[in-house]
Amino acid sequence: MDIAEVLQLAEALVFAKTGKHLDHLQKTVLKGTIQGQTYSEIAQDNGFSESHVKNVGHELWNNLSQALGEKVTKANFRGIFINLKNNNFIGSNVCQTNSTFNNINIFADEARSQTPTQQPQQTPKPHIDLGDAPEIFSFFDRTTQLTTLETWILQQNTRLIAILGISGIGKTTLSLQLIEQIKHNFEYIIYRSLRFSPTIETTLTNLLQIFAPKSETPQNIETQLSQLINYLRQHRCLIILDDIHTLFSSKQLAGQYQTGYENYHLFFQLITQVTHQSCLIVNSWEKPREVTQLKKENNAIHCLLLEGLGEAAKEIIREQELLDEDCWQSLIDRYQGNPLWLEFTANLIKELFAGKVSEFLQCDTLILSESLQAQLDQQFQRLTPQEIAVMIQLAKENEPVCLAHLIKNLDLPTSELLNAMQSLGMRLLLDVKECDRTRFFSLNPVLKQYVKNRYSQFKISLGTF
Ligand SMILES: Nc1ncnc2c1ncn2[C@@H]1O[C@H](COP(=O)(O)OP(=O)(O)OP(=O)(O)O)[C@@H](O)[C@H]1O
Ligand SMILES: [Mg+2]
Repeated sequence: MDIAEVLQLAEALVFAKTGKHLDHLQKTVLKGTIQGQTYSEIAQDNGFSESHVKNVGHELWNNLSQALGEKVTKANFRGIFINLKNNNFIGSNVCQTNSTFNNINIFADEARSQTPTQQPQQTPKPHIDLGDAPEIFSFFDRTTQLTTLETWILQQNTRLIAILGISGIGKTTLSLQLIEQIKHNFEYIIYRSLRFSPTIETTLTNLLQIFAPKSETPQNIETQLSQLINYLRQHRCLIILDDIHTLFSSKQLAGQYQTGYENYHLFFQLITQVTHQSCLIVNSWEKPREVTQLKKENNAIHCLLLEGLGEAAKEIIREQELLDEDCWQSLIDRYQGNPLWLEFTANLIKELFAGKVSEFLQCDTLILSESLQAQLDQQFQRLTPQEIAVMIQLAKENEPVCLAHLIKNLDLPTSELLNAMQSLGMRLLLDVKECDRTRFFSLNPVLKQYVKNRYSQFKISLGTF
């Protein structure tokens, strides 16, 4: 992204709103934000206090929000300006006519009328219905994942994408940030969480009402599905269905639909197999079987496995105002860079260690706060007794172990053990390494500690669960 172009547009927007040009510090905040710097880094690099830089940033986002008619924050600024660039607002001659910068729609119409064939499907004012999506206050990194998703959606026209990952890893946050970045390529953007396990009829009715609020929704699923597919053909839509693991049965092997929910399979199948111009993203703790079964060579389906945040997780720790920055990487490594696990742990460190990370790390066991364990309880409550038996065995092992070792040490029929292993893989609960064409399985330290804490009183006997 060309910083000079962004500054030019921001300058014009702020000037149109306030009649004032950007000053040096405002430009510095913008540059730093584009380069992914935190307020504290911008302040340090330029010799200002962090609070002063924050205040300047706050005022800047307010002015830009008013000029653009949509909320601009430090977290979404980059995405919004990438969209403006994609829509040819940056670099085109409309940028030079300051008087037209009061309302971004003016640019959009101009830009479209100037380049009607270049971006035929782009629309500046998508219909956005995010339902009860959480608000994102800060967003760090995930640049690679966002680029991958953008490529799949905008260049390869992928129809179904599954974003998979353990609870708290950032699926919801990532998909909402993705919306910010690519929303101008769509006519409709819809986000719904399925956390209360709605039936397929409820979900389809809800979606259809967004397209045709005054029409009566048909009762039978076939007609509902065909109407929805028609809308997905007529309009370029991005639909995100979050928390779809709630459609699958608890205490059964992963990815099996609850009774009465099997028609979701038909829905996902249709989305991938029928021609249309839209994309459905599903977020889940468990890999849906469709993703494996329907995977074809034609890019109609893709799957993004979300892992920890890495270095960028330091920003989460910084936001929590913890101390001992030189120990932060160890903290991140221990908690797998999982943003939610780090947030829970940071709270504990603040409350009991006055923010001192080094003191916390001196504890001889890996500490899991009750909130963190409660979060994991929700995932473990879904496991079958056989899966729990495998997890307990793996928690006892000091090294990764091969399948033969598990078969020998677990009192389970081999076929049940193999199914349990495959299912745990679909739930993303196993770490797998391959060496000399043999696979070795282990648990990450947090899961290992959780299993020890929660199941230490149980013997490995299926009767116990
Ligand atoms: N890239 C990120 N930058 C900053 N904070 C993040 C990021 N990703 C996640 N978080 C924070 O981590 C927490 C968990 O994120 P999120 O709810 O997106 O996880 P999830 O994978 O959807 O979890 P679940 O499966 O339980 O719904 C939230 O508080 C969120 O703000
Ligand atoms: Mg979520």
